[in-house]
Amino acid sequence: MTHPPEQTDGQSPADQSQHGRIYGAARYYDIAFAYRDFVEECDFLMSAAARHLGRAPASVLELAAGPANHAIELARRGLDAAALDREPAMVRYGSEKAEAAGVRVNYHQGDMTGFSLDRPVDLALLLLGSAACLLTNSAVISCMQRVSEALTPGGVLIIELPHPRELFNIDDATEDGWEVTRDGTRVRVRWGSPGDSLDPVSQIAQVTTTLTIWDGGRKQVIRDKAFQRRFTVQELDALARASGGLDAVAWFGGLDLDVAIDDPEEAWRMVAVLQKPAIPPALPNA
Ligand SMILES: C[S@@+](CC[C@H](N)C(=O)[O-])C[C@H]1O[C@@H](n2cnc3c(N)ncnc32)[C@H](O)[C@@H]1O
Repeated sequence: MTHPPEQTDGQSPADQSQHGRIYGAARYYDIAFAYRDFVEECDFLMSAAARHLGRAPASVLELAAGPANHAIELARRGLDAAALDREPAMVRYGSEKAEAAGVRVNYHQGDMTGFSLDRPVDLALLLLGSAACLLTNSAVISCMQRVSEALTPGGVLIIELPHPRELFNIDDATEDGWEVTRDGTRVRVRWGSPGDSLDPVSQIAQVTTTLTIWDGGRKQVIRDKAFQRRFTVQELDALARASGGLDAVAWFGGLDLDVAIDDPEEAWRMVAVLQKPAIPPALPNA
């Protein structure tokens, strides 16, 4: 019998994913991904969570948080907010950004496959494809187990990933480009390059990202590669079950309550709402 290759031994999942240069350039990363409407996205996150929690979440943990824009917006709304990222430059940048916004975000450096919280939260977030950094099933399950331990009973984890349509359209390797200017700094992003590969067995893609930056009369180029795991809906559902601590309770095709995951026109992201059971499963023979 053969098994899908897993890279679990010796090398932690954190060692395997990269983009370290881009995540290290936290301010430029923040500008590059500032095309999102964080207020609208947080409206969705709060509503989707409340549907399953039965009340508005009072606390949030943003995992792989980067600049922590969602944690900052939710802290502004009065939630008790925490964030976690393994890149020290992101932790510094996000903490300074929270301070400048006049809110408190308890931002820690750490790995999302091995962390614990002093106090449980109602809502955990893993957004913008950050779950793709979890390359193996073991890493995904560890992360889900840590999240389940960190959630209050009935609490939810919301994961945002690329829509699986992208995975199955493997002849058309994802290649995308956009540009954002903020406070006089211009960042052009090229996500993916024609030479990038996708291994159909491990579902791990090698993604080349280039940021071209014009800042204070100076131009610089940051080019970086990362391994990124691609997921299907069935797989994410199975991994949640295998974690023993979360169940998939809703799927959306974007950070939008009105877009169904199977909407052939509108769905462009895979958004999973995973819930920790309100009553822990009974032990066998209990
Ligand atoms: C694509 S960025 C997303 C940042 C943020 N969620 C957003 O919406 O902009 C991915 C982030 O995940 C962090 N990261 C990657 N693997 C991680 C891990 N195993 N544990 C914690 N953070 C991780 C990186 O340092 C980076 O800041």
